[in-house]
Amino acid sequence: MTELLALAENIAREAGAMLLAKRPDRPEVLTTKSTDTDIVTALDRAAEELIRARIAEARPDDGVLGEEEGDTPGASGVRWIVDPIDGTVNFLYGVPAWAVSIAVEVDGQVVAGVVNVVPLGEVYTASLGGGAHLNGDRITCNTGVPLPAALVATGFGYAPGRRVVQAEVLTQVLPHVRDIRRMGSAAADLCAVAAGRVDAYYERGANAWDFAAGGLIATEAGAAFGGLRGTPPNPEMILCAAPDLFTALHDLLLPLNPERDA
Ligand code: IPD
Repeated sequence: MTELLALAENIAREAGAMLLAKRPDRPEVLTTKSTDTDIVTALDRAAEELIRARIAEARPDDGVLGEEEGDTPGASGVRWIVDPIDGTVNFLYGVPAWAVSIAVEVDGQVVAGVVNVVPLGEVYTASLGGGAHLNGDRITCNTGVPLPAALVATGFGYAPGRRVVQAEVLTQVLPHVRDIRRMGSAAADLCAVAAGRVDAYYERGANAWDFAAGGLIATEAGAAFGGLRGTPPNPEMILCAAPDLFTALHDLLLPLNPERDA
């Protein structure tokens, strides 16, 4: 586990340095994916290529699931879950909240996670049972915060029908919490829970590459992280907060979350 974490951290740092060095003042949208707002820049692709190359050099039998290139199965039981730029819209505009996110799964369980929030120089790391760290210092999530006093982060997907539902859910959540933050990077949001910069995070429709690394980091910082009705984290809904607050937020969200997007 220590070796996997060290390798993941080295790769996330190298990819982050490459992105910082090569990011032009005004990056261009190369193409779009699921909808016109779901953008890809040339550097999303270049970073994923770099990350995949480094993994293949060090561990050729491992699988990789990446946001840009999809699932490449491996034979070793180890799978890397990669978001080369989480927060691509922030990257495009120069908003300093985008991250390289790399998680390592062994036999289906995430055992190591790194989120490099590159523009802030913040590298979050965690290994299963080893605690969570920010630039090497131990971090823990906020505890004892009741729902009405909670600062809650959330995110939105790209499909209009999903956004309609996300907005409706948000309308029902906002009156019950201190305030809402939409920072634009799910990985960084989960690390914000881990570091106590927000009290909770939830999102309908997030993908494994958005939350695998940040989820371990938040869990290792003391947070509960899961889906609705006791399910593991999944695209239906993910929630993250200290255990008591997790339960309160879960109970608020459960009746609000329809099965399908609009
Ligand atoms: C997105 C960000 C955003 C979240 C979206 C993700 P991307 O990832 O994490 O905060 O709300 O659900 O898709 O597209 O920038 O890698």
